[in-house]
Amino acid sequence: MATTVTPEPEVLSPFEEIAALERNYLVQNYARYPLALHRGKGCYVYDLEGNRYLDLISGIGVNSLGYAHPRITKIIRQQAGLLLHTSNLYYHEYQGRLAERLAKITGLKRSFFCNSGAEAMETALKMIRAHGNSVSPKKINIISLDNSFHGRTLGALSITGQPKYRKDFEPLLPGASFVARNDLQALEAAVNENTAGIVLEVIQGEGGIYPVSEPFARKARELADRYNALLVFDEIQCGVGRPGSHFAYQLFDTPIMPDIVIAAKPMACGIPLGVVVATENAGTSIKPGMHGSTYGGGPLACRVALEFFDILDELLPSINSVGVYFRMKLTELMRQFPFIKEVRGQGLMIGVELAFSGKQLVLDGIREGLLFNCTHDLVLRFLPPYIITEQDVDRAISALTKVLRNAKKPDGAQ
Ligand SMILES: Cc1ncc(COP(=O)(O)O)c(C=O)c1O
Repeated sequence: MATTVTPEPEVLSPFEEIAALERNYLVQNYARYPLALHRGKGCYVYDLEGNRYLDLISGIGVNSLGYAHPRITKIIRQQAGLLLHTSNLYYHEYQGRLAERLAKITGLKRSFFCNSGAEAMETALKMIRAHGNSVSPKKINIISLDNSFHGRTLGALSITGQPKYRKDFEPLLPGASFVARNDLQALEAAVNENTAGIVLEVIQGEGGIYPVSEPFARKARELADRYNALLVFDEIQCGVGRPGSHFAYQLFDTPIMPDIVIAAKPMACGIPLGVVVATENAGTSIKPGMHGSTYGGGPLACRVALEFFDILDELLPSINSVGVYFRMKLTELMRQFPFIKEVRGQGLMIGVELAFSGKQLVLDGIREGLLFNCTHDLVLRFLPPYIITEQDVDRAISALTKVLRNAKKPDGAQ
């Protein structure tokens, strides 16, 4: 007689045990919040005790379709039963198809796939170097912006315009220099015939949600053309649907084309995938054997990304409308809480600048069932999943109102 096997109930370790193991065995580079997540559904995640949290940070802009999205879950299950990894020794069905999709979306011709934002940035830096070297050994300079963030690898750090991230690892790549965002004169003064590349976040993310102006981006394009340098847009945080268009550079009144755009976070809904999409000229600066990535562009990640882009086409209008609604509701809070100095952003990339540090508010938010983070000490950052609705925003605003009402303001703050 067949017996029915009841699945063992999942036994979860108590939070303290999880935290203690990490304390004992992990490199202590992260300052985690006191919360261990167990599962998620839609825009919500659940901790070990089953408490629910509305997620407005989505794994720092990665969980673009929230959690357990039925179409993504189905694709992952199917592909797991077929083929997870091939290496780039062989072809598979999805890498070329995804590259074709990206070419149509970006207007750029050639893609290289990798596994993270920093790896995409490294690839773009190698394209810049290879391009510069093909012109002159002196053409090695790269201009990027003060307050920028491009990743944690040594190359990406070299062009990250925040000394706090760089200082422990110097000397870094030679030839990097920084100009103030939106300072056209400073940019003009910095670029010359030895400039091989100009790298910009179209909207600075980690730096506090600051867009570059259209005239500044246009000036960067003009100078890159004048001095035969590559213009790179880092859209790892601000791109791939988050601004309400496929890429933030497409929102300028007259679009400004980069030579290279790099993307990562939201593209495969939590499965690591980064990409560099380049013009024919920039893309062919990398010749056979000059670059590679063992995992880059595997069948699982590429197939999930193809499904994601199908779903994104349906979601773009609501990313825009819910983004406008969210910013309007946050702006209304400014009347009640004068310590909110500014609400800024585009689509579902939103920053709320405070008159004092927002770090405690993040912890208070967790207690109210709301996840967001704080960047640059003063800026509450919201990068919710693209499936968020106005109803979810209403819920978020009422929890946030409680948090703000109880905020302990430092002496002197209103
Ligand atoms: C604009 C930008 N560039 C690069 C990176 C680095 O990406 P990753 O953490 O995937 O290496 C980030 C990460 O937050 C980012 O926001």
